[in-house]
Amino acid sequence: MTLLIIGGTGTLGRQIVRKALENGFQVRCIVRNKRAANFLKEWGAELVYGDLTLPETLPLSFQGITAIIDASTTKSEDDTELLAVDWYGKLIVVELSKYTQIKRFIFLSILNSEKYPYITLMQMKYRVEKLIKDSGIPFTIFKYAGFFQGLINQYAIRILEQKPILNTVKSPTIAYIDTQDAAFFCVKSLSIEEAKNKVFITGSFQAWKSEEIIELCEKLSGQKAKIQNISIILLKILRQITGFFEWSLKISDRLAFIEVINNTQSFTSSIEYTYSILDINPTEILELDSYFREYFEMMLNLLENLNAGQLKKTKTSII
Ligand SMILES: NC(=O)c1ccc[n+]([C@@H]2O[C@H](COP(=O)([O-])OP(=O)(O)OC[C@H]3O[C@@H](n4cnc5c(N)ncnc54)[C@H](OP(=O)(O)O)[C@@H]3O)[C@@H](O)[C@H]2O)c1
Repeated sequence: MTLLIIGGTGTLGRQIVRKALENGFQVRCIVRNKRAANFLKEWGAELVYGDLTLPETLPLSFQGITAIIDASTTKSEDDTELLAVDWYGKLIVVELSKYTQIKRFIFLSILNSEKYPYITLMQMKYRVEKLIKDSGIPFTIFKYAGFFQGLINQYAIRILEQKPILNTVKSPTIAYIDTQDAAFFCVKSLSIEEAKNKVFITGSFQAWKSEEIIELCEKLSGQKAKIQNISIILLKILRQITGFFEWSLKISDRLAFIEVINNTQSFTSSIEYTYSILDINPTEILELDSYFREYFEMMLNLLENLNAGQLKKTKTSII
């Protein structure tokens, strides 16, 4: 089976490429910059130049493809760029998938995308989900609340650097997931007939409140976090005020995103469903505490070595 991966250089995409190669798939990746994506070639993937904003660059990469995993998205704050990649680019990819009679289209989306039409990215994700469902192409959609990797910037580094952490009062419990496990789910779903035409809410088995994540980081780093608490009501008011002004729409979007995450209902039963259909044993999936333990052990060792090196340098220069 030849698998086409879009977004193979991304945080999740690269793990999907690796997992697919390990599982014996032939992998072709659409990349914007072949030099920057050379590591994927070294792993064994074929690279084809393509850019979602340049439709004429896409058809060639669809030749001989059986399935597609689309892990691409833009991080741009500019709505024109966002529409170009996360809507118009996807329209073309879906059309090409129909034309070449792809056997499975795997799309990666965001939890609760349907509930937040006033956030451009969420609206685009929801529209693409609908587009794929209506296309007649066999599909599997995975929806995430977030990845462990994103929590490093949000919590771990801020604690190590003694920077304030924005925390919402009464935060919900959220099941994040390691990108290696998310990739495992995606690749495994390709060989499971029952996963066809399904939408899976995806996370690790244990859900965490932001206070619990902060406590965990404090324990593992041995440092106290500087927490700035903010209420959801205040966030909503701020979003409404900033939403009046065009220049501040991006601030408004960002605040709305915090609101999305904080509106997330407990989704344990949906996650149980995902694990049962994909036949995944929860003990094989990395949990957040183990992920952070590994991270802090590595960082604290690194800092200790750096400090020791600095001390040695200082002593030598004094002598
Ligand atoms: N991160 C999260 O917490 C989170 C949460 C829920 C859902 N998701 C979804 O999970 C998926 C993967 O997210 P991620 O965080 O791994 O994304 P990411 O690290 O930002 O990677 C995005 C990928 O898209 C590619 N891309 C961007 N613009 C492109 C274009 N014009 N043409 C072709 N490729 C383009 C990038 O290629 P370059 O290397 O060339 O830039 C990169 O490979 C996305 O669908 C995202 O919406 C993510």
